[in-house]
Amino acid sequence: VITDLGAFVASTYKRGMGSVLVSTTLLGCVDAAVGGKTAVNLGAAKNMVGTFHAPEAVILDLGSLGTLNKRGLMEGLVEAYKTGLIADEEFASHIELNGPDLLKGDQLGLAQVARRSAEIKAGIVGEDFTEKGKRMLLNFGHTYGHAVEAFYRHKVSHGRCVGLGMEVAARISLGRGMISEDLAERISRTISLLTPKPLAAPPAKDAWPLALQDKKIRNRGVVFILLKGPGQAEPVNDVTEQELDTAIKSVGRQRDG
Ligand SMILES: NC(=O)c1ccc[n+]([C@@H]2O[C@H](COP(=O)([O-])OP(=O)(O)OC[C@H]3O[C@@H](n4cnc5c(N)ncnc54)[C@H](O)[C@@H]3O)[C@@H](O)[C@H]2O)c1
Repeated sequence: VITDLGAFVASTYKRGMGSVLVSTTLLGCVDAAVGGKTAVNLGAAKNMVGTFHAPEAVILDLGSLGTLNKRGLMEGLVEAYKTGLIADEEFASHIELNGPDLLKGDQLGLAQVARRSAEIKAGIVGEDFTEKGKRMLLNFGHTYGHAVEAFYRHKVSHGRCVGLGMEVAARISLGRGMISEDLAERISRTISLLTPKPLAAPPAKDAWPLALQDKKIRNRGVVFILLKGPGQAEPVNDVTEQELDTAIKSVGRQRDG
Protein backbone atom coordinates (compact mmCIF):
# COMPACT_ATOMS: atom_id res chain seq x y z
CA VAL A 1 0.00 0.00 0.00
CA ILE A 2 2.74 2.43 0.96
CA THR A 3 4.84 1.91 -2.18
CA ASP A 4 1.75 2.33 -4.41
CA LEU A 5 0.71 5.50 -2.58
CA GLY A 6 4.20 6.99 -2.20
CA ALA A 7 5.11 6.31 -5.81
CA PHE A 8 1.77 7.75 -6.99
CA VAL A 9 2.40 10.97 -5.07
CA ALA A 10 5.97 11.15 -6.39
CA SER A 11 4.77 10.64 -9.96
CA THR A 12 2.27 13.52 -9.78
CA TYR A 13 3.81 16.05 -7.36
CA LYS A 14 5.26 18.94 -9.39
CA ARG A 15 4.49 16.83 -12.50
CA GLY A 16 6.69 14.04 -11.26
CA MET A 17 9.75 13.54 -9.12
CA GLY A 18 12.02 10.59 -8.45
CA SER A 19 11.17 7.90 -5.91
CA VAL A 20 12.99 5.11 -4.11
CA LEU A 21 10.70 2.31 -2.90
CA VAL A 22 11.54 0.12 0.07
CA SER A 23 9.40 -3.00 0.38
CA THR A 24 8.97 -4.79 3.71
CA THR A 25 6.26 -7.25 2.62
CA LEU A 26 6.67 -10.35 0.45
CA LEU A 27 3.92 -9.16 -1.90
CA GLY A 28 5.72 -5.83 -2.24
CA CYS A 29 9.01 -7.54 -3.06
CA VAL A 30 7.62 -9.98 -5.61
CA ASP A 31 5.01 -7.72 -7.15
CA ALA A 32 3.71 -4.37 -5.86
CA ALA A 33 6.98 -2.43 -5.52
CA VAL A 34 8.45 -3.80 -8.75
CA GLY A 35 7.39 -2.61 -12.20
CA GLY A 36 6.44 1.05 -11.85
CA LYS A 37 2.65 0.75 -11.61
CA THR A 38 1.24 3.14 -9.02
CA ALA A 39 -2.40 3.50 -7.98
CA VAL A 40 -4.87 4.54 -5.33
CA ASN A 41 -8.52 3.52 -5.00
CA LEU A 42 -11.35 5.88 -5.89
CA GLY A 43 -14.57 5.25 -3.97
CA ALA A 44 -15.20 1.51 -4.18
CA ALA A 45 -13.11 1.10 -7.33
CA LYS A 46 -9.69 -0.48 -6.81
CA ASN A 47 -6.60 1.12 -8.38
CA MET A 48 -8.79 3.61 -10.26
CA VAL A 49 -6.32 6.53 -10.25
CA GLY A 50 -2.73 5.75 -11.07
CA THR A 51 0.31 6.12 -13.26
CA PHE A 52 3.21 4.22 -14.78
CA HIS A 53 6.28 5.75 -13.13
CA ALA A 54 9.58 3.90 -12.87
CA PRO A 55 11.25 4.42 -9.48
CA GLU A 56 14.94 5.35 -9.26
CA ALA A 57 15.48 2.21 -7.21
CA VAL A 58 13.58 -0.54 -5.42
CA ILE A 59 15.03 -1.90 -2.21
CA LEU A 60 13.83 -5.31 -1.02
CA ASP A 61 14.14 -5.29 2.77
CA LEU A 62 14.65 -9.05 2.98
CA GLY A 63 15.55 -8.95 6.67
CA SER A 64 12.02 -7.78 7.52
CA LEU A 65 10.18 -10.74 5.94
CA GLY A 66 10.55 -12.86 9.10
CA THR A 67 7.88 -10.88 10.98
CA LEU A 68 5.13 -11.22 8.35
CA ASN A 69 2.04 -13.18 9.34
CA LYS A 70 0.85 -16.26 7.42
CA ARG A 71 -1.61 -14.23 5.36
CA GLY A 72 1.18 -11.88 4.27
CA LEU A 73 3.32 -14.84 3.24
CA MET A 74 0.46 -16.48 1.38
CA GLU A 75 -0.33 -13.29 -0.57
CA GLY A 76 3.27 -13.04 -1.75
CA LEU A 77 3.81 -16.74 -2.45
CA VAL A 78 0.75 -17.01 -4.71
CA GLU A 79 2.03 -14.12 -6.88
CA ALA A 80 5.57 -15.54 -6.89
CA TYR A 81 4.19 -18.94 -7.99
CA LYS A 82 2.22 -17.20 -10.76
CA THR A 83 5.42 -15.51 -11.96
CA GLY A 84 7.18 -18.88 -12.09
CA LEU A 85 4.32 -20.54 -13.99
CA ILE A 86 4.31 -17.94 -16.77
CA ALA A 87 8.06 -17.42 -17.11
CA ASP A 88 10.35 -19.82 -15.23
CA GLU A 89 9.55 -23.51 -14.81
CA GLU A 90 12.40 -24.12 -12.35
CA PHE A 91 11.21 -21.31 -10.06
CA ALA A 92 7.61 -22.64 -10.16
CA SER A 93 8.84 -26.14 -9.20
CA HIS A 94 10.93 -24.62 -6.41
CA ILE A 95 7.79 -23.12 -4.86
CA GLU A 96 5.83 -26.36 -5.37
CA LEU A 97 8.51 -28.28 -3.47
CA ASN A 98 9.31 -25.73 -0.75
CA GLY A 99 5.83 -24.23 -0.20
CA PRO A 100 5.30 -25.74 3.28
CA ASP A 101 8.66 -24.46 4.63
CA LEU A 102 8.18 -21.05 3.02
CA LEU A 103 4.74 -20.73 4.61
CA LYS A 104 6.31 -21.54 7.99
CA GLY A 105 8.49 -18.44 7.54
CA ASP A 106 11.86 -19.92 6.44
CA GLN A 107 13.56 -16.54 6.18
CA LEU A 108 16.44 -17.46 3.88
CA GLY A 109 14.03 -19.32 1.58
CA LEU A 110 11.65 -16.34 1.51
CA ALA A 111 14.51 -13.97 0.69
CA GLN A 112 15.53 -16.21 -2.23
CA VAL A 113 11.94 -16.32 -3.52
CA ALA A 114 11.55 -12.53 -3.18
CA ARG A 115 14.76 -11.87 -5.05
CA ARG A 116 14.17 -14.34 -7.90
CA SER A 117 10.56 -13.30 -8.39
CA ALA A 118 11.51 -9.60 -8.49
CA GLU A 119 14.26 -10.40 -11.02
CA ILE A 120 11.84 -12.24 -13.32
CA LYS A 121 9.18 -9.51 -13.07
CA ALA A 122 11.74 -6.75 -13.65
CA GLY A 123 12.95 -8.61 -16.77
CA ILE A 124 9.40 -8.79 -18.19
CA VAL A 125 8.62 -5.16 -17.30
CA GLY A 126 11.92 -4.08 -18.86
CA GLU A 127 10.65 -5.45 -22.19
CA ASP A 128 7.12 -4.02 -21.94
CA PHE A 129 6.75 -1.23 -19.38
CA THR A 130 3.23 -0.08 -20.33
CA GLU A 131 1.65 -3.55 -20.71
CA LYS A 132 1.10 -3.70 -24.44
CA GLY A 133 2.41 -7.24 -24.79
CA LYS A 134 4.51 -9.55 -22.60
CA ARG A 135 3.66 -7.80 -19.34
CA MET A 136 0.04 -8.95 -19.76
CA LEU A 137 1.23 -12.48 -18.94
CA LEU A 138 1.66 -11.37 -15.32
CA ASN A 139 -2.16 -11.23 -15.18
CA PHE A 140 -2.33 -15.05 -15.22
CA GLY A 141 -5.13 -16.01 -12.82
CA HIS A 142 -6.36 -12.44 -12.50
CA THR A 143 -9.28 -12.46 -15.00
CA TYR A 144 -11.44 -14.95 -13.10
CA GLY A 145 -9.57 -13.94 -9.90
CA HIS A 146 -10.78 -10.32 -10.13
CA ALA A 147 -14.33 -11.53 -10.86
CA VAL A 148 -14.11 -13.72 -7.73
CA GLU A 149 -12.92 -10.73 -5.68
CA ALA A 150 -15.85 -8.65 -6.95
CA PHE A 151 -18.30 -11.55 -6.39
CA TYR A 152 -17.20 -11.74 -2.73
CA ARG A 153 -17.34 -7.89 -2.53
CA HIS A 154 -13.60 -7.65 -1.78
CA LYS A 155 -14.06 -9.49 1.55
CA VAL A 156 -11.82 -12.41 0.48
CA SER A 157 -8.07 -11.85 0.16
CA HIS A 158 -6.56 -11.12 -3.27
CA GLY A 159 -4.22 -14.13 -2.93
CA ARG A 160 -7.04 -16.65 -2.40
CA CYS A 161 -9.06 -15.18 -5.32
CA VAL A 162 -6.06 -15.14 -7.68
CA GLY A 163 -5.07 -18.66 -6.57
CA LEU A 164 -8.52 -19.91 -7.60
CA GLY A 165 -8.21 -17.85 -10.81
CA MET A 166 -4.91 -19.63 -11.58
CA GLU A 167 -6.53 -23.05 -11.08
CA VAL A 168 -9.39 -22.12 -13.40
CA ALA A 169 -7.09 -20.62 -16.08
CA ALA A 170 -5.02 -23.83 -15.93
CA ARG A 171 -8.20 -25.90 -16.44
CA ILE A 172 -9.14 -23.81 -19.49
CA SER A 173 -5.61 -24.41 -20.83
CA LEU A 174 -6.05 -28.14 -20.17
CA GLY A 175 -9.44 -28.11 -21.93
CA ARG A 176 -7.74 -26.66 -25.02
CA GLY A 177 -5.02 -29.32 -24.92
CA MET A 178 -2.33 -26.72 -24.17
CA ILE A 179 -1.04 -28.33 -20.95
CA SER A 180 -1.03 -31.79 -19.39
CA GLU A 181 -3.47 -33.03 -16.75
CA ASP A 182 -0.43 -33.49 -14.51
CA LEU A 183 0.44 -29.76 -14.65
CA ALA A 184 -3.17 -28.69 -13.96
CA GLU A 185 -3.25 -31.06 -10.95
CA ARG A 186 0.13 -29.76 -9.68
CA ILE A 187 -1.19 -26.20 -9.84
CA SER A 188 -4.35 -27.12 -7.89
CA ARG A 189 -2.27 -29.00 -5.28
CA THR A 190 0.12 -26.06 -4.86
CA ILE A 191 -2.68 -23.52 -4.57
CA SER A 192 -4.38 -25.65 -1.86
CA LEU A 193 -1.06 -25.80 -0.07
CA LEU A 194 -0.44 -22.05 -0.25
CA THR A 195 -4.07 -21.06 0.49
CA PRO A 196 -5.28 -23.82 2.81
CA LYS A 197 -8.87 -22.51 3.27
CA PRO A 198 -10.62 -23.82 0.13
CA LEU A 199 -12.58 -21.04 -1.61
CA ALA A 200 -15.89 -21.98 -3.26
CA ALA A 201 -15.78 -21.03 -6.95
CA PRO A 202 -18.47 -18.57 -8.12
CA PRO A 203 -20.37 -20.02 -11.12
CA ALA A 204 -19.63 -18.78 -14.64
CA LYS A 205 -23.06 -17.13 -14.98
CA ASP A 206 -22.11 -14.76 -12.12
CA ALA A 207 -18.39 -14.42 -12.92
CA TRP A 208 -18.77 -13.73 -16.66
CA PRO A 209 -20.57 -10.34 -16.34
CA LEU A 210 -18.04 -9.33 -13.67
CA ALA A 211 -15.14 -10.30 -15.97
CA LEU A 212 -16.71 -8.21 -18.75
CA GLN A 213 -16.44 -5.14 -16.50
CA ASP A 214 -12.71 -5.69 -16.00
CA LYS A 215 -10.44 -2.98 -17.36
CA LYS A 216 -8.48 -5.57 -19.32
CA ILE A 217 -11.19 -6.00 -21.96
CA ARG A 218 -9.64 -5.94 -25.44
CA ASN A 219 -11.47 -6.00 -28.79
CA ARG A 220 -14.64 -6.84 -26.88
CA GLY A 221 -13.23 -10.15 -25.66
CA VAL A 222 -12.38 -11.03 -22.09
CA VAL A 223 -8.60 -11.52 -22.01
CA PHE A 224 -7.42 -14.67 -20.26
CA ILE A 225 -3.79 -15.64 -19.85
CA LEU A 226 -3.46 -19.35 -20.60
CA LEU A 227 -0.52 -21.67 -20.04
CA LYS A 228 1.29 -23.37 -22.90
CA GLY A 229 3.38 -25.43 -20.49
CA PRO A 230 5.22 -24.85 -17.23
CA GLY A 231 6.96 -21.46 -17.54
CA GLN A 232 5.17 -20.43 -20.76
CA ALA A 233 1.96 -18.48 -21.28
CA GLU A 234 -0.02 -16.50 -23.83
CA PRO A 235 -2.96 -14.06 -23.82
CA VAL A 236 -6.17 -15.07 -25.61
CA ASN A 237 -9.48 -13.23 -26.02
CA ASP A 238 -11.70 -15.99 -27.34
CA VAL A 239 -12.54 -17.90 -24.15
CA THR A 240 -16.31 -18.47 -24.00
CA GLU A 241 -18.59 -18.46 -20.96
CA GLN A 242 -19.21 -22.18 -21.64
CA GLU A 243 -15.46 -22.91 -21.48
CA LEU A 244 -15.21 -20.96 -18.23
CA ASP A 245 -18.16 -22.95 -16.84
CA THR A 246 -16.52 -26.28 -17.72
CA ALA A 247 -13.21 -25.16 -16.18
CA ILE A 248 -14.86 -23.97 -12.94
CA LYS A 249 -16.74 -27.27 -12.63
CA SER A 250 -13.57 -29.28 -13.19
CA VAL A 251 -11.87 -27.51 -10.26
CA GLY A 252 -14.57 -29.31 -8.27
CA ARG A 253 -15.82 -26.86 -5.68
CA GLN A 254 -18.38 -24.66 -7.42
CA ARG A 255 -20.44 -22.43 -5.15
CA ASP A 256 -24.22 -22.89 -5.42
CA GLY A 257 -25.69 -20.31 -7.80
N1 LIG B 1 1.52 -1.58 -8.11
C1 LIG B 1 1.45 -2.87 -8.36
O1 LIG B 1 1.93 -3.35 -9.40
C2 LIG B 1 0.78 -3.78 -7.37
C3 LIG B 1 0.83 -5.17 -7.54
C4 LIG B 1 0.25 -5.98 -6.57
C5 LIG B 1 -0.35 -5.42 -5.45
N2 LIG B 1 -0.40 -4.07 -5.32
C6 LIG B 1 -1.02 -3.45 -4.15
O2 LIG B 1 -0.32 -3.88 -2.98
C7 LIG B 1 -1.17 -3.71 -1.84
C8 LIG B 1 -1.03 -4.90 -0.93
O3 LIG B 1 0.31 -5.00 -0.53
P1 LIG B 1 0.75 -5.76 0.80
O4 LIG B 1 0.24 -7.14 0.82
O5 LIG B 1 2.21 -5.54 0.91
O6 LIG B 1 -0.12 -5.09 1.89
P2 LIG B 1 0.13 -3.90 2.92
O7 LIG B 1 1.09 -2.91 2.38
O8 LIG B 1 -1.23 -3.47 3.32
O9 LIG B 1 0.81 -4.67 4.14
C9 LIG B 1 0.07 -5.66 4.82
C10 LIG B 1 0.23 -5.48 6.33
O10 LIG B 1 1.57 -5.90 6.70
C11 LIG B 1 2.16 -4.93 7.59
N3 LIG B 1 3.60 -5.06 7.40
C12 LIG B 1 4.39 -4.48 6.45
N4 LIG B 1 5.66 -4.94 6.54
C13 LIG B 1 5.67 -5.84 7.56
C14 LIG B 1 6.70 -6.65 8.15
N5 LIG B 1 7.93 -6.69 7.65
N6 LIG B 1 6.36 -7.45 9.20
C15 LIG B 1 5.10 -7.45 9.69
N7 LIG B 1 4.08 -6.71 9.17
C16 LIG B 1 4.37 -5.92 8.14
C17 LIG B 1 1.54 -3.62 7.15
O11 LIG B 1 1.60 -2.67 8.18
C18 LIG B 1 0.09 -4.05 6.83
O12 LIG B 1 -0.69 -4.08 8.00
C19 LIG B 1 -2.58 -3.53 -2.39
O13 LIG B 1 -2.95 -2.18 -2.24
C20 LIG B 1 -2.44 -3.85 -3.89
O14 LIG B 1 -3.34 -3.12 -4.68
C21 LIG B 1 0.17 -3.24 -6.25
